[in-house]
Amino acid sequence: MRKGIGMARSTSKSSPAMKSGHSAPHVSICPNNEKFPLPSTGDYTQEFKRLQRLVNQQRRRGREIVVVMGVGFVGAVMAGVVADAVNPQGQPSKFVIGMQRPSPRSFWKISYLNRGIAPVEADDPEVARMISRCVLEKKTLTATFTYDVLGLADTVIVDIQCDYHKDTFGNVRHGHADIKALEECLKVVGEKIRPECLVLIETTVPPGTTEYVAYPIIKNEFDRRGFADREPLLAHSFERVMPGRNYVASVRDFWRVCSGINPEAREKAVAFLSSVLNVAQYPITVLDRPIESETCKIVENSYRAAILAFMNEWSLFAERNGVDLLKVLQAIKIRPTHSNIMFPGPGIGGYCLPKDGGLGFWSYHTLMGFEDDIFKLTPTAIDINDTRALRVPQLVRDALFEMGKIVAASKVAVLGASYREDVGDTRYSGSEIIVRKLTEMGAEVVAHDPYLTHWWEFEKQDTYPAPGHSLSRFFRNQQKLSDWRMQDRLSAALRNADAVILAVRHKDYLELDPDEVVRMIGRPAALTDCFGLLDDRKIRRYIELGCEVNGLGRGHVKRIKDEVRGAAAR
Ligand SMILES: NC(=O)c1ccc[n+]([C@@H]2O[C@H](COP(=O)([O-])OP(=O)(O)OC[C@H]3O[C@@H](n4cnc5c(N)ncnc54)[C@H](O)[C@@H]3O)[C@@H](O)[C@H]2O)c1
Repeated sequence: MRKGIGMARSTSKSSPAMKSGHSAPHVSICPNNEKFPLPSTGDYTQEFKRLQRLVNQQRRRGREIVVVMGVGFVGAVMAGVVADAVNPQGQPSKFVIGMQRPSPRSFWKISYLNRGIAPVEADDPEVARMISRCVLEKKTLTATFTYDVLGLADTVIVDIQCDYHKDTFGNVRHGHADIKALEECLKVVGEKIRPECLVLIETTVPPGTTEYVAYPIIKNEFDRRGFADREPLLAHSFERVMPGRNYVASVRDFWRVCSGINPEAREKAVAFLSSVLNVAQYPITVLDRPIESETCKIVENSYRAAILAFMNEWSLFAERNGVDLLKVLQAIKIRPTHSNIMFPGPGIGGYCLPKDGGLGFWSYHTLMGFEDDIFKLTPTAIDINDTRALRVPQLVRDALFEMGKIVAASKVAVLGASYREDVGDTRYSGSEIIVRKLTEMGAEVVAHDPYLTHWWEFEKQDTYPAPGHSLSRFFRNQQKLSDWRMQDRLSAALRNADAVILAVRHKDYLELDPDEVVRMIGRPAALTDCFGLLDDRKIRRYIELGCEVNGLGRGHVKRIKDEVRGAAAR
């Protein structure tokens, strides 16, 4: 069985950690439903003794002690990459301790790691192998729940989340960065670390956070502890990790940008990253100030969001004027200067692109205190991307109408729940909006994804991604989706469907044969292609079989339909 990425907010083929949620606050339930009692007060002393013993042994072997705060999607893999690093003599050079809050939602990750099991499921087999190797064979990686571990560290890497909460659907300006967890974490860091410890923030943060938020917090704690003469060694280097088959390589074998709050911090950060990443092939770019490194991350993701949003209007233009946007983009991509132009699909999901521009917008007004409105394109791009999926139910409505049906009396099968192809990751996927809107319009919706059996955005919509943050709040009639389950088998999802939405370019869906699909449905249906999955041969065949076809940016379908129906009439 293939698996998706995911875990804490896991969408993959396993049960969720958040099952533990609010009902059972004293245990944390792992993906296999095993319960882990949360630590009691007495456990902390024992745990710290265990860590001291380990650290003393490791120091005797000349190893640097690295604490990774937050063993989530990024931190768990970064911890593995650091623990796997070797010195020029081929010997492990670091001992890594992954630190994680013992919350019901996440405590299980510590137990998993300490058994040598990766707390993330990934399509990249190297994730599991690396964690197992480092914990069980090399013994260079362990995990803990006690913040006291910070006092043992030479380097602390901060990999905790920093979300952006939107108050309105399709208006990123109505929202705020949630830096509370980060502030709490930094305060404890300031309370516990030794002054000479390097603190490397990898979290994607509102530009300015390292200097305007982290520095004063840690400096105040240093002053309070009698280290008023010591400057915190703070640096920022964001992650460019990509889910999928190259998960580990996207952390280790990829270009990094970094910066430090002062020359010493900068040099330490460069030395540290150079000792764990493949900098020979992927050199580090060192920027002068942390705000530049922080801005770099926000700009590169806002750029990507903007070029995708830009295509939305051309997608509509194409639909209304007989143009196949897919072929237009293929023709443009031939120019090397335009090779990164992209077909936008039914919405731009993933954890980063929908939020990162918002972090910049928020920072400018909140951390920097500016009142004027310099941001035009960045928020508009996010708003367009956040609402693009709404076009899909309209296309479904139109295709059904051509067949004499209405959405409210139809079964609609959504094929693909992930935000991108060949991963099981549903974070902010366009498919979620499609399901919610069609439900609001009264359709009976079913969904299938070869990489998923659960779609937690629906099954746990009261608490996931966090209480009060489900997109359900922007649509009516969503309550019933809590009892809604994904279809394991494609044939079951398709059976008797009136409409089928090809939402994600998963390999399995690209290979679907029209005759086979119509056979599984049991009759001709309305097909909506959201991501350029259908070539002209398949579109023609569906139409020959009596189906209606349309798609995002696929205005040429009418031409094929006229040809097929004209030929049939002759
Ligand atoms: N996930 C991605 O695709 C991706 C890609 C590039 C960059 N990033 C960035 O990396 C950062 C981390 O993202 P993620 O996906 O790993 O998030 P995540 O939610 O999977 O992991 C964060 C972890 O930090 C833990 N945590 C929170 N507060 C803590 C505290 N005070 N002490 C210790 N642990 C704490 C949480 O319990 C969680 O396990 C974010 O800034 C994100 O934008 C993520």
